[in-house]
Amino acid sequence: MLKIEYDFNLKNHNTFHVDFLCKKFIEINQREDIDDLIPFLPTDKNMLYVLGEGANTLFTGRFNGTILHSNLKGIHVKKQENDRVHIQVNSGEIWNDFVLFCVQNQYYGVENLILIPGSVGAAPVQNIGAYGVEVGDFIGSVEYLDLADFSIRKIGNIDCQFKYRDSIFKGSLSGKILILNVTFVLSTKPSFNASYKPVQAALDNENNLIPSIQDMSRIISSIRRSKLPDPSLLGNAGSFFKNPIISNSHFLKLHERFPEIIAFDSDGKMMKISAAWLIDQCNLKGFSIGGAKVYEKQPLVIVNYGSATCNDITDLSQYIQKKVFEKFGVLLESEVIFL
Ligand code: EPU
Repeated sequence: MLKIEYDFNLKNHNTFHVDFLCKKFIEINQREDIDDLIPFLPTDKNMLYVLGEGANTLFTGRFNGTILHSNLKGIHVKKQENDRVHIQVNSGEIWNDFVLFCVQNQYYGVENLILIPGSVGAAPVQNIGAYGVEVGDFIGSVEYLDLADFSIRKIGNIDCQFKYRDSIFKGSLSGKILILNVTFVLSTKPSFNASYKPVQAALDNENNLIPSIQDMSRIISSIRRSKLPDPSLLGNAGSFFKNPIISNSHFLKLHERFPEIIAFDSDGKMMKISAAWLIDQCNLKGFSIGGAKVYEKQPLVIVNYGSATCNDITDLSQYIQKKVFEKFGVLLESEVIFL
């Protein structure tokens, strides 16, 4: 059944755990709710925002529009052939529950993405990634409700236009659709990604030449917990900024002035540089504004260490951008979406 609330506080629907009121909150709980939903949606699409678990959104004041939230549950193995399994997962499933399902059933591919907060429906939107893996590499298709004509459409991997923390859902389809489900294509044959150096180091340390999927998820969980705060204990939205991608010539100039600069993923023309390193060099670890603080173990993360308001977080993020720009001439782009 459709759930509708008015003047609703989204404190439990954002991983920063900040108070935020919206005029209307609509939750769909089953596919049949779609027909009932239509009359409740605003005609002005600027007055509508689709929210998953709020793991990547920062609210910046009262929202006078409608928040649409999918609570569609269900993980369905659709087909298994050769070494591949196709799993259709409804958008309201918690991302980590799906990863645990895969680990338990030995479906390989997304284990490096364990413990990432958020919903399955949000995963393709910003093409979540960690420890050498991006979810887009394991998505076969995405089914969504078009909020303009209420048709249901499905698009394949290529049309999702996955890039680093980006996709068509963050671009031209942003605000226009509700993701209903995602079909993942995983491997039933062991295959691992140990390209992230600390993962390889942990395997070497254990003398673990042929890790099981449980070994990989245990190692990744422990690396993640050592660097990133658990949002259920300390409000945060993971990396607040993306790692900036700059031209090679810009990089060479920076490298002349800062030979220790950390960079990776060059494609010959562009270079990705470490935002954590840039922020660290500005001595901002532990710096706070109001209740918002730069996390000491990973300065790419802003935490709510008690009573941060949306404004504290926004002010701190702008302060970080200003300091990094002054020192390096690089503008940090936020990974978190401001509403
Ligand atoms: N670094 C510092 N100082 C620090 C922390 C890190 O200089 O205090 C340097 C490290 O030396 C390291 C580099 O920064 O060489 C990168 O750090 P890390 O390996 O932790 O990764 P990241 O690039 O900062 C990205 C993702 C994370 C993901 C990790 C691991 C982005 C924006 N962030 O962080 O994703 O977990 O890699 O793969 O791409 C997220 O998106 O919410 C997120 C947490």
